[in-house]
Amino acid sequence: MNILGVNAYHGNASAALVCDGKLVAAVEEERFNRVKYAAGFPAAAIRYCLQVAGITLADLDHVAVPRNPYARLGRKLFYALRMPSFARERARVISKFTGIPAALAWAFDSDPAKLKASFHRVEHHQAHLASTFFVSPFDTAALLSADGLGDFASSMWGLGTGNRMRIDGAIAFPHSLGLYYSAVTQYLGFLKFGDEYKVMGLAAYGQPAYLQEFRDILRFDSNGGAFGFKLGLDYFTHHKTGPEMSWAESDQTPTLGKMFSEAMPRRLKAPARQPDEPLEQRHRDMAATLQARLEEVYLGMLKKLAARTSAKAVCLAGGVAFNCVANGKIFDATPFEQVHVDPAAGDAGLAVGAAFYVWHQILGKPRSFVLDHPYWGPAYSAEEIQSAIRSSPVSQGGHSIAELPEEELLRRTAAIIADGKILGWYQGRAEWGPRALGNRSIVADPRRPEMKEILNRRIKHREIFRPFAPSILAEKTGEWFEKSHPSPFMNLAYSVRPEKRDKIPAPTHVDGSGRLQTVTREANPRYYALIQEFEKQTGVPVVLNTSFNDNEPIVCRPEEALDCYLRTQMDALVLGGTLITRPL
Ligand SMILES: [Fe+2]
Repeated sequence: MNILGVNAYHGNASAALVCDGKLVAAVEEERFNRVKYAAGFPAAAIRYCLQVAGITLADLDHVAVPRNPYARLGRKLFYALRMPSFARERARVISKFTGIPAALAWAFDSDPAKLKASFHRVEHHQAHLASTFFVSPFDTAALLSADGLGDFASSMWGLGTGNRMRIDGAIAFPHSLGLYYSAVTQYLGFLKFGDEYKVMGLAAYGQPAYLQEFRDILRFDSNGGAFGFKLGLDYFTHHKTGPEMSWAESDQTPTLGKMFSEAMPRRLKAPARQPDEPLEQRHRDMAATLQARLEEVYLGMLKKLAARTSAKAVCLAGGVAFNCVANGKIFDATPFEQVHVDPAAGDAGLAVGAAFYVWHQILGKPRSFVLDHPYWGPAYSAEEIQSAIRSSPVSQGGHSIAELPEEELLRRTAAIIADGKILGWYQGRAEWGPRALGNRSIVADPRRPEMKEILNRRIKHREIFRPFAPSILAEKTGEWFEKSHPSPFMNLAYSVRPEKRDKIPAPTHVDGSGRLQTVTREANPRYYALIQEFEKQTGVPVVLNTSFNDNEPIVCRPEEALDCYLRTQMDALVLGGTLITRPL
């Protein structure tokens, strides 16, 4: 039985295919159309999923869409009456969604009558919860989804047992942890969709000096069953102007309108920072307080969820679950002993969630799949890689190009890293979700304090305050970090042990933390072997890992990896079994 999940007409458009209860493929549209966070209809992602399974649209039994325009209809109508622009937006969205079968047929030049699939609308947060629980290793787990907004809710929680999820509650628009973070991110002068990540990095440079103010901006809600939170709405505008994200029809780049009101700068006694203005200490302190207050509320919710469910494990999804700093504190702040975070915790993950929701929650099928690695995207054959090399300027520019036996390739590659060079590392299927996890990565020596600055200057061109991440051999985690719970998808940050910090300064953040990826031989044998070889040569079982890109979506095809290698002056590139090095 083939179930296609489609996140369409929304940021992070994506598709996923589940065949007989097992994930077969999952990919974001941005990897194909090269527009970061692309919204719109993910035709290329769907095409890829079908191709992996060797099926056509006519072979689909179910299509699941993670949006239910009829969820919370009363509240939607209430706001639609107060905001005509919002009503128009709702109508536009609903018409897009009801047209998905036609869009599918159109994109594939197929006769709509040949589509035999049943269509399902899965409520946004139920899809988030399904995306994390149904593929987790846990039979029983507490569930929490938290994001900006989806189907007019911003959070949902419950309990998962076997092939069922029980929903216990939700927090509806306009109250939202995600929009709280986004609004203050905008106030701090970071205006692009997805910039919350930058502010989380900035927070480590400040002190939470504004807690009184931020506790007024984001409040505990004692009337909401002592579980929830509410926004101090005076500081926001989204409840008046409408909450929907829009996207440019031309290139599908999503944007969010201004979300903070003039009361925010008044309360914080400082004007909003403009993007081109310098960052001052007060901005760092505000970022630190934004994060500290998020943790108070988020961890407080998780603590209560643990008490209500008595579960030892928790499954997390929604954009807020990307907050690896808060996630890393779960073990100390709550009774939870195990955590699973969706690798595509943002809205891309909805495609997987909607498909598994149909398989388990609607069809009642038993669990038979665990997402134990993130490699569900496109792969390219050795012939395709060789053809890309032959057509690239690298084949004419004096670069050394060598196809090497695996052992020698790993030995030479580890030596290149240990020598302080920057390596592009490209192999196998692309990662699902926004983190590069050893198949589309740039790898560098973590022992060199200057590496962060070198990477930023030569390759990444991003803000200097943003940290780089470590990949560590999983069994060594406890020796180097103060926690040892697996973090296979780079969604947890732990403190680096104080005695190890000067051994891996490059991926250790200013507060001593690292957003780590724990690497196992089972999940990624070749990346594991590379780190093991690096350890053999240096004594350090850690490499610095950052995504293979330069202010663009992570490279997907070998041609894009070659272009990025050439454009950014990387020193070396492993492309499948080929090692390419730059002339001295
Ligand atoms: Fe969401």
